[in-house]
Amino acid sequence: MKKIGILTSGGDAPGMNAAIRAVTRTALVNNIEVMGIYKGYMGLHEGEILPMDRRSVSDIIQRGGTILKTARFPEFKDLAVREKAAQVLKIYGIEGLVVIGGDGSFMGAKGLSELGIQTIGIPGTIDNDLAYTDRTIGFDTAQNTVIDAINKIRDTSSSHQRVSVVEVMGRDCGDLALYAGLAGGATTILVPERKYTDEEIIKTVMDGRRQMKHHNLVVIAEGVGNSHEIAKKIEDVSGIETRATVLGHIQRGGAPTAFDRVLASKMGHRAVELLMEGKSGRVIGTVKGDIVDYDIHEALSVKRPFNEKLYQIAMDLV
Ligand code: F6P
Repeated sequence: MKKIGILTSGGDAPGMNAAIRAVTRTALVNNIEVMGIYKGYMGLHEGEILPMDRRSVSDIIQRGGTILKTARFPEFKDLAVREKAAQVLKIYGIEGLVVIGGDGSFMGAKGLSELGIQTIGIPGTIDNDLAYTDRTIGFDTAQNTVIDAINKIRDTSSSHQRVSVVEVMGRDCGDLALYAGLAGGATTILVPERKYTDEEIIKTVMDGRRQMKHHNLVVIAEGVGNSHEIAKKIEDVSGIETRATVLGHIQRGGAPTAFDRVLASKMGHRAVELLMEGKSGRVIGTVKGDIVDYDIHEALSVKRPFNEKLYQIAMDLV
């Protein structure tokens, strides 16, 4: 292996830069050239590619976002587009590719590996929605961002004795809502994996008020529905003032936590080792803290089961 490429794709996640740094420096100490591919698969398709050296990744381990930029590029589902991308890699002499991203990005990596490109995936998404790995890069930082916001909302909510509905990211996966909801002391956690009724939500709020709770925190994953509408229903039926806060893209930015930096460094290092071992079509993850790798088809075919046990703990602790 003489030359590899690296790209970040899909929604960014804190810790992607730490992974880029780890891939680049691990390759360089092994005398492998590194090419940075800008703006994900779109940049690969357009040939937005520049060489990287040790200095290219200096002073980035602590930064959110991705120095390589990213893009959503649904056109990559098209075989002809992927073939052109594979051609670009050949023109640049790139023999191995590291893709950092979520499930959509891994689909692209799978497609490229089927075209004979040696490809390794590193999970980078705040959603933690890749079932084969315990953790994705960015999830820990996003949880802490949400908890920080919840702590602030709790102050004002408590002063005004209001109900707060806090909407967090997660279209199909409620992990961020579940973990941040538990850590933030939410009385209600609404996730796409569970059904709920308006009556249940309102009953919890009313029960809380009867127990002299000064405030009530409802954490809702974006995939569940419109948090402003839910807040209005709560207020209309319970008579308790309710405010909704949509945290939005604040959850995707910020300095990565130590956990995410270490995870990204370990995964980036392993990605290069796998390429040097001649592996392809593999994705890196962690199981009980250990770094593992799986076949990309296998990894994408499993859906994360909802953590009922953790949900039960959160509800028991209300
Ligand atoms: O995939 C990560 C994620 O942050 C999801 O939680 C969210 O639904 C989506 O990206 C938002 O994407 P965009 O920034 O493209 O609007």
